[in-house]
Amino acid sequence: MAAKNILHMLTPHKHVSPFDVNMAVDAGYDSVTPYEEVTIDEVPDLVQDVIFSRPPDRGVNSAVFFGGDDAVLALDMIDAAKGAMVPPFGCNVMADPAGSFTTAAAMVALVEKTLKAEKGKTLADVSIAVFGATGVVGYCSAVIAALEGAKVKIVGYSGVKRVQDRADEMKERFGIEVEAVDGSSDEKNQAIISDVEVIFSAAKAGVQVLSLKQLQAAGNLLVAADVNAVPPLGLEGIDVMANGEPIEGTNALGIGALAVGPIKSNTEQGLLKRMIEAGEPQYLDFRDAFQLARSLAS
Ligand SMILES: NC(=O)c1ccc[n+]([C@@H]2O[C@H](COP(=O)([O-])OP(=O)(O)OC[C@H]3O[C@@H](n4cnc5c(N)ncnc54)[C@H](OP(=O)(O)O)[C@@H]3O)[C@@H](O)[C@H]2O)c1
Repeated sequence: MAAKNILHMLTPHKHVSPFDVNMAVDAGYDSVTPYEEVTIDEVPDLVQDVIFSRPPDRGVNSAVFFGGDDAVLALDMIDAAKGAMVPPFGCNVMADPAGSFTTAAAMVALVEKTLKAEKGKTLADVSIAVFGATGVVGYCSAVIAALEGAKVKIVGYSGVKRVQDRADEMKERFGIEVEAVDGSSDEKNQAIISDVEVIFSAAKAGVQVLSLKQLQAAGNLLVAADVNAVPPLGLEGIDVMANGEPIEGTNALGIGALAVGPIKSNTEQGLLKRMIEAGEPQYLDFRDAFQLARSLAS
């Protein structure tokens, strides 16, 4: 009899995400069990409970998924899970806190596609301003783009201190140089965006980050993407459905949240399916999400 595919869904929060539960069942998991308010020191015991319950060749039919809303904690939880494996016993491991790994992957992949198809450029050719970079989506999109060779600035709406801490953490973890900049006023934001070719807007839902007037004054802008679907949108003048449409009064193209959404969902479901179909245990984070989103976007 074929082994059942079992997903153990862990979150540091009070609830796992119903979105992720639906995704997992639709991807083909036979069973999805939530574990809530999980701390990082509880991860090794839970993972070992998973792996020792089945013979080693069935480890691949078990998976642990980390949710929450903290990218750094989710990455640490993946590391804690990896460290708890006892070969030949193992299982699949994936994280997508608040859907952020797959959302960031989808946004960066769509921007990359638009840059290449419409502007003849790669991520390595451009500088990017990331708004909302203390959040999970902003954090991951900044790291993905920097790993692809983009010159990345992470913008702090409340000043430079918190984004500088993020930049330091990114350098330590990923070996990337990301510049932290002060975006605490409209004037400062204008100076920042005048200097970049790409904008990622990943701020809190329902917060306008930049007006159309500001975008129109950003002379070097080629592509701007916004993942906020809740009015007011993060970037005024970019429709939620826009998928490379011109931004009025600029030479730039816009990507809206509902263009990002389907690639995000297909990426999350694709990674879940990959764990079900794999012959060897997988460890999946936003870098794997980006590779898949890139192939789905092109
Ligand atoms: N399209 C999709 O498929 C999809 C999927 C998931 C999420 N999303 C959207 O992606 C966005 C980011 O989500 P997230 O989970 O990363 O959210 P998050 O963790 O709450 O982060 C939001 C970011 O916005 C910042 N922020 C708060 N108020 C701000 C303001 N007035 N001006 C500028 N920045 C401000 C936050 O700063 P603090 O550090 O001060 O809180 C944080 O950096 C949201 O709009 C969400 O709805 C889209």
